[in-house]
Amino acid sequence: TKTKKIAILPGDGIGPEVMAEAEKILDVVAPRYGLSLEKRRANVGGAGIDAEGKALPDSTVETCRWADAILFGSVGGPKWENLPPDEQPERGALLPLRKLFGLYANLRPAIIFPQLKDASPLKPEVIGDRFDVLVVRELTGGIYFGQPKGRDAERGFDTLVYTKPEIERIAHVAFKAARLRDKKVTSIDKANVLASMVLWREVVTGVAKDYPDVELNHMYVDNAAMQLVKNPRQFDVLLCGNMFGDILSDEASMITGSLGMLPSASLAEGSFGLYEPSGGSAPDIAGQGIANPIAQILSAGMMLKYSFGLSEAYDAIYQAIESVLAQGLRTGDIMTPGCTRVNTKEMGDAIVRALG
Ligand code: NAD
Ligand code: IPM
Ligand code: MN
Repeated sequence: TKTKKIAILPGDGIGPEVMAEAEKILDVVAPRYGLSLEKRRANVGGAGIDAEGKALPDSTVETCRWADAILFGSVGGPKWENLPPDEQPERGALLPLRKLFGLYANLRPAIIFPQLKDASPLKPEVIGDRFDVLVVRELTGGIYFGQPKGRDAERGFDTLVYTKPEIERIAHVAFKAARLRDKKVTSIDKANVLASMVLWREVVTGVAKDYPDVELNHMYVDNAAMQLVKNPRQFDVLLCGNMFGDILSDEASMITGSLGMLPSASLAEGSFGLYEPSGGSAPDIAGQGIANPIAQILSAGMMLKYSFGLSEAYDAIYQAIESVLAQGLRTGDIMTPGCTRVNTKEMGDAIVRALG
């Protein structure tokens, strides 16, 4: 048995609700693969502000430093929206965590379970046999972090800047991922307007020379947003900067039925990572126990795969989810006629049962 340390940061809104289900799944799956998990929980986001006066308390950073990986819920909500921007959950905790731990590579696999074809807003013939896209999103640069940024009463500004090394390292992640898939990378940019994106296109083209077995295409982001709903099957790996990846991953998630289905892994060099659903704290449904826990559960699965090297554990979780969907169980966001509506806890319990 090997022991790994994980920091559990449930956060706000539906975060704690879906985290409880992911923990149940981990408790069942980890021991089967000879893994003993030592867990410590910490406050983050609004929960950090309320309990310790700060979105990212020092004690939380310490817990994350102690850990081999972070399992993260989601942060933010109306309660904290009137604080100074830098103290709010998103800018005060999530972005600093990503930066602090060098989590530059965000993997967002949007894969439709065949059972959920009816839950997708796209026609079945548009989806075809399979929709399986990996969004590779640069996570510690671009307009989110570029300096200067600021505002006064009359003017607000942000800076979109990318350096060659930043583009190179995320491009390598995308090409390596493509090698294990359909060997196609579509690099998303706005090189017709933005200088940073002219560099992006140039550098990605250069990196592609190391991967002659992978096909590279370039696409403007506006066209990509359109192509995703017109012909989603043309894509394999989407390589994006920080903001374009944020937007296109939400769009891709909906093709699979719901944002509540999309997990993510935010990886540093080495095996450290932060794992979180791609969606947020969902204030519109928080507190009702009806959120879809699958994105959080798959994020926990990605932690087992990417930080702890247990891809079979990820596969087992994936298959358990598939079998629960085949039984017709659905949370509200993926509900379709003829299926049985379940709440967050019932979905988690069903996945635990399906694990056997
Ligand atoms: P959101 O992702 O929270 O919600 C968008 C829509 O998707 C809502 O209708 C919500 O109910 C639905 N949804 C999301 N996850 C779901 C799930 N698991 N099950 C069922 N439905 C789900 O985005 P928003 O409303 O724009 O933002 C709400 C708050 O969350 C904001 O404070 C935002 O900054 C924050 N946020 C945090 C993260 C994060 O912590 N990683 C990510 C995105 C947004
Ligand atoms: C995400 C979220 C975050 C982002 C916000 C909450 C800062 O939307 O993880 O997709 O924009 O990166
Ligand atoms: Mn987002």
